[in-house]
Amino acid sequence: GQIEKGGFPHFMLKEIFEQPECLRNCMRGRVVSRTVETRVMTDGDDTTCKTETEMGVVLSSITDHRQQLLNAKRIIIVACGTSWHAGLIGKQMIENYCRIPVEVEYASEFRYRNPVVTKDDVVIAISQSGETADTLAAIKLAKESGAFIYGICNSIGSSIARETDTGTYIHVGPEIGVASTKAFTGQVTVLILLALAIGKEKGTISENDYQKITEQLWNIPAKMKEVLKLNNKIADLSRTFTYARNFIYLGRGFQYPVALEGALKLKEISYIHAEGYPAAEMKHGPIALIDSDMPVVVIATHNFMYEKVLSNIQEIKARQGRVIAIVSKGDETISKIADEVIELPETLECLEPLLATIPLQLLAYHVAVCKGKNVDQPRNLAKSVTVE
Ligand code: AGP
Repeated sequence: GQIEKGGFPHFMLKEIFEQPECLRNCMRGRVVSRTVETRVMTDGDDTTCKTETEMGVVLSSITDHRQQLLNAKRIIIVACGTSWHAGLIGKQMIENYCRIPVEVEYASEFRYRNPVVTKDDVVIAISQSGETADTLAAIKLAKESGAFIYGICNSIGSSIARETDTGTYIHVGPEIGVASTKAFTGQVTVLILLALAIGKEKGTISENDYQKITEQLWNIPAKMKEVLKLNNKIADLSRTFTYARNFIYLGRGFQYPVALEGALKLKEISYIHAEGYPAAEMKHGPIALIDSDMPVVVIATHNFMYEKVLSNIQEIKARQGRVIAIVSKGDETISKIADEVIELPETLECLEPLLATIPLQLLAYHVAVCKGKNVDQPRNLAKSVTVE
């Protein structure tokens, strides 16, 4: 009823708005700060103490299973749907900062493919519900080959959580809306923590990156609150896109999985066909679809791919496509050419998915509401797919 929705018209909107609090809960006790004293020489022989706070990541799963995790020759992530998208972001984080090769697999494909798995592999299963049949079967299979199994789940005591050797709960609270929102940002957060903690132990992340990312991650909830203030603006612009039969979502690097996730959200609840693509793939086919009816959501934040994504936007505009651009605050170039612009606060590139996902969740939500769809319980979908 109304009370459980906390004044929101739907669980999905409530869960979108809960994300800053959820991520605080997810990081509590895991992102820690300590004061360090360093002796500083001043004039002559005098020494003074300089105190600084240093932030760090503590994951008990790593402390308890150091050997297995640090010696992993390869990591295989198995998941479905939104959790698989989180896995794609995890891959980039882990490869960047731990230098361990990572493969991201659909659990349903992996389990039937006679995959090569060895005892030197760590298999990470990501599942909000912890009950997805394919993901559960995938880890049972991997276990037979002697791989070490790590779970990233939300539901405490769920089947997947029980089947794994260790893991980390995302602690975002029960997710009721069928379209996953806060679980996604929680999963991404845990994967970032995991990459930081393993990278630090292995010495594959620089002290500077480790400090910077940890600090900026801690600030993400506050920045998410800023992004949520765009809700009314997104509700307004959503009205102009209910006509669309198709949508394209583009992003690169860390934002490519966000594009996939945005497209999935729109498909699930508004029943508009949407496809997510890495922006540079557009010219290898999808660009043929662009005309004045085609809305294209482009994540074009100010990172090192910016210029390339900007030229993709120009290509879309040259074909009269309608561009909804997600940009960094203060971007003047894209604001001039895009039809709609949504500004995000600045953060580190690897943390941008946590912010850029929110406007896409809101866009899908408002388009679906405008179309009169049942947002919390879309047709044909179940919250967790416990049968094949
Ligand atoms: C997401 O919005 C979906 N409803 C769906 O793709 C979901 O993420 C998938 O079924 C996996 O569920 P799980 O995380 O509970 O394993």
